[in-house]
Amino acid sequence: MCGIVGILGRGAVAPLVVDALKRLEYRGYDSAGVATLENGHLERRRAEGKLRNLELKLSHAPLTGAIGIGHTRWATHGRPNETNAHPHATDKLAVVHNGIIENFRALRDDLQAKGVVFDTETDTEVVAQLVTDELRQGRSPTEAVAATLPKLRGAFALVFLFEGEEDQLIGARHGAPLAIGYGEGEMYFGSDALALAPFTDEISYLEDGDWAVLSRSGATIRDAQGHPVERARQTIPAGSAVASKGNHRHFMAKEIYEQPEVVGRTIAHYVDFSRCAVRLPELPFSFRDVSRLSISACGTAYYAGLVARYWFERLARLPVEIDVASEFRYREVPLDPGQVALFVSQSGETADTLASLRYAKDQGQHTLAVVNVPTSTMARDSAVVAPTLAGPEIGVASTKAFTCQLSVLLALAIGAGRQRGTLTEADERRLVEVLAAVPSLMTEALRSEGEIETVSREIAKAKDVLYLGRGTSYPLALEGALKLKEISYIHAEGYAAGELKHGPIALIDEAMPVIVIAPHDAVFEKTVSNMQEVAARGGRILLITDRRGAAEAAMDTMSTLVMPDCDPVVAPLVFAVPAQLLAYHTAVFMGKDVDQPRNLAKSVTVE
Ligand code: F6R
Repeated sequence: MCGIVGILGRGAVAPLVVDALKRLEYRGYDSAGVATLENGHLERRRAEGKLRNLELKLSHAPLTGAIGIGHTRWATHGRPNETNAHPHATDKLAVVHNGIIENFRALRDDLQAKGVVFDTETDTEVVAQLVTDELRQGRSPTEAVAATLPKLRGAFALVFLFEGEEDQLIGARHGAPLAIGYGEGEMYFGSDALALAPFTDEISYLEDGDWAVLSRSGATIRDAQGHPVERARQTIPAGSAVASKGNHRHFMAKEIYEQPEVVGRTIAHYVDFSRCAVRLPELPFSFRDVSRLSISACGTAYYAGLVARYWFERLARLPVEIDVASEFRYREVPLDPGQVALFVSQSGETADTLASLRYAKDQGQHTLAVVNVPTSTMARDSAVVAPTLAGPEIGVASTKAFTCQLSVLLALAIGAGRQRGTLTEADERRLVEVLAAVPSLMTEALRSEGEIETVSREIAKAKDVLYLGRGTSYPLALEGALKLKEISYIHAEGYAAGELKHGPIALIDEAMPVIVIAPHDAVFEKTVSNMQEVAARGGRILLITDRRGAAEAAMDTMSTLVMPDCDPVVAPLVFAVPAQLLAYHTAVFMGKDVDQPRNLAKSVTVE
């Protein structure tokens, strides 16, 4: 993962590098570092932990050079300490790296056999030493990088800064994103446009295998074969700058509260309210001709896909296969040409999901990506893009992106149902009306925050928590458990309520809260029976239901959270809100770093 930056500036660049790194902290925050040329000589400042530690170091020992590179790390090789922090350097260069060099051991062994001594446990230092080895043989920086890149295997993006080279940065992209920013007498490298938003809105994206040499007057880009190539410049909308927390304590809270607005905006993009009809993106196929839909995604996006399976199968009678992308990519799934492969991703940069997309393309599938970052690799690589309009999501735990993904997926399922003739015009009209009500239902769900905050104090005492749900509430149970564990570090598991008696019921005791997500839908009574089984064994239940469910369940619970009544088809959108708020308040009460939980990163660009 990791975020990388390079700046050829007109004055001291270290503060600008740090500013850009702040926008990339979503990619990792285990350590950070910056290197500049001070009167032609390489100097570095690095610090373990969050960027503020690096800022503190820089305030005691400032860097003033007008050319520099920076890095924020999500550790893969080597502990997240200062020694392993980037930039890595030799006496001839410094380098920042995002990704993994898969053959680093073999390369390191070769270098060690030549007498090279390594200071760190990282794969990145191998790159620094390889290029240095080429330089020692009398090659120029450009020649040395050109000679090194073909030796590297894996997915990576790199930016190099060379001793004595005041007007040159070299960057390379192989499987991990890298963008070039064009300024007035200034040039930039960045992992994405967001990093460079305060400096320039003119961006070009390197393609796989490309590498580029920057000077203050421009960029020379070459492809993997070394041929000069042009990559189109794009103007990135100003709105991509980092958002502020507004009146909220955390980005996560702000993003939870933004949901009625961004879900409303996303729904409006896919619905023609004057005709009460869904507006599908332009598709090179008709769902009528499709016999199977395969969905791949990771984490929360995968859970959105799991919910969508119920929708596509029920509303469009379209069989769905769904996989976590890390399994799909290696499963060697046989796919009949001309079918549809759908990918769901907030960042559009998740390595496993991207690899699955490429696999599906090679298998002759129509590719359709539900993506939040419009400039991402996935948005560029997929034949059709169905955007989610959540805006930048900064909190590491996904919230508003999830509900926007659900909105798009439901609209697609309705559209598919119309094309396949499983929904009539009247059905579509009714479903569109149901969709249109979602933002106000979410606003109502947010009003339970006070009660959720109170009950979160009970959850905070638990070591383990079980989430149960049936139908579309089952993936929601998985998502609720994921939210809780990733930000509070309480162990939590989601189960299909009907599976309880096949094993997990053995865990039930007074110490383990059981959170049951049960809107009043077709399987509500079945879920109530499962709750009875929990209660009979002394389990403490937190029931999240709606008004009808609360009236009918008539159960003794630890607490019952009552959401507004809604059509069961949109219940996952509405019930996501209490699941998110519960995880949020539990983690806040426990004093955890809600926006940047340990060991995680917002964009997972390694497999
Ligand atoms: C959890 C979370 C992750 C992501 C997953 C996929 O809160 O955010 O599980 O959903 O890493 O990321 P994207 O959607 O960027 O492909």
